[in-house]
Amino acid sequence: MNMMHRPGLLKYENYRYFKVTSLLMALAIAAYVLIQPTGGKTYGGTWLGYVLGIISTGIVLLLMWFGVKKRRTLRMSDRRLDLKQNHQNFSETQSEFNAARKSDRRKRHANESWRYGGSMQGWLSAHVYLGVSLIVLATLHSSFQFGWNIHTLSYILMLLVIASGFYGMYAYLNFPRQITHNLTNDSLDDLLLKIADLDELARIRALGLPDEVNVIVLKARQKTRVGGNFFQQISGSQGDCPTSLAAQQILQLGKKYTVDEQPKLMRDLFSVLLHKEKLVLRARNEIMLKARLAGWLYLHVPLSIALLAALFAHIMAIFFYW
Ligand code: HEM
Ligand code: HEM
Repeated sequence: MNMMHRPGLLKYENYRYFKVTSLLMALAIAAYVLIQPTGGKTYGGTWLGYVLGIISTGIVLLLMWFGVKKRRTLRMSDRRLDLKQNHQNFSETQSEFNAARKSDRRKRHANESWRYGGSMQGWLSAHVYLGVSLIVLATLHSSFQFGWNIHTLSYILMLLVIASGFYGMYAYLNFPRQITHNLTNDSLDDLLLKIADLDELARIRALGLPDEVNVIVLKARQKTRVGGNFFQQISGSQGDCPTSLAAQQILQLGKKYTVDEQPKLMRDLFSVLLHKEKLVLRARNEIMLKARLAGWLYLHVPLSIALLAALFAHIMAIFFYW
């Protein structure tokens, strides 16, 4: 996905696909306005309607093929890579093997070396513009005749696929940069390790303090969640985060424990919890960005499949009730 960090997606090859699809849309609009079928307006059932419908369906199929092709290309090259790596690393340990394989794969992504008739960026650029052109083509095809029927269901599904595509494009263009910014030096694994260390440190600091304090620290350790299920990851937060709560409670209790070393221990404990809170927020944000970067495809792809099914039904219905 590395190549998508670059802003070239929309400007690809001097706006090649913007020009191609603009021409397509202009032709469709001109035809719709100029060609007056006998007996009224253009609609799905006139020859121009059929042409627009068939072109739209062709584009939908092409865009879906994009996904299949991409997956197949990746899988095939992964297999090639496996063979190569197997050969080179057969005497090395499994973890070295995996690391080498990962970095090789990353390099390949960065190199943008997919073939099959153009780079992935070119495909994606065409995908985006052709997807948008459907709004014009399919709307003219339906001639603004909407109702509670399977035809309109196809149309709505199409709009939903396009809308989710827009979100995905936004995510690809923006989130990777935020992730790098967020991380600075620590990977997610580093963050989680540091959080675990701070938990341990907090536990030790609390040992010399009253039970009440130990209970708070234990709760913060056991109940704080980073990640979680899909929706929790997407939201990137935990309501009433136990770590934030613990930090506040320790601050409050600090006023109560004034004997001997207690104020110093409480201050230390507070700063450990504050540090942990900061790292937990960063880790959650990191997971959130990654989940949002990947999660939208769980809408885009199933909606595309639903669109395909609805289109099939739409076309069947047309021929059935002719
Ligand atoms: C992306 C592809 C397509 C979409 C989103 C779409 C959507 C629609 C919509 C919303 C209507 C208006 C329905 C109404 O009058 O209530 C319509 C009508 C129609 N569509 Fe499609 N359509 C697509 C592709 C096709 C294809 C490939 C064909 C033919 C092979 C086709 C044939 C027709 C016909 C004949 C009508 C007129 C039906 C009537 O007025 O009763 N459509 N389409
Ligand atoms: C009816 C129209 C569309 C269909 C049927 C469609 C279908 C698909 C499919 C099947 C994939 C492959 C997902 C995968 O398995 O990795 C995909 C990816 C994608 N689509 Fe669409 N799409 C449509 C419109 C759009 C639009 C309008 C946009 C942007 C404005 C868009 C943006 C994307 C992006 C960014 C990807 C990700 C490519 C990647 O992961 O490398 N799509 N689309």
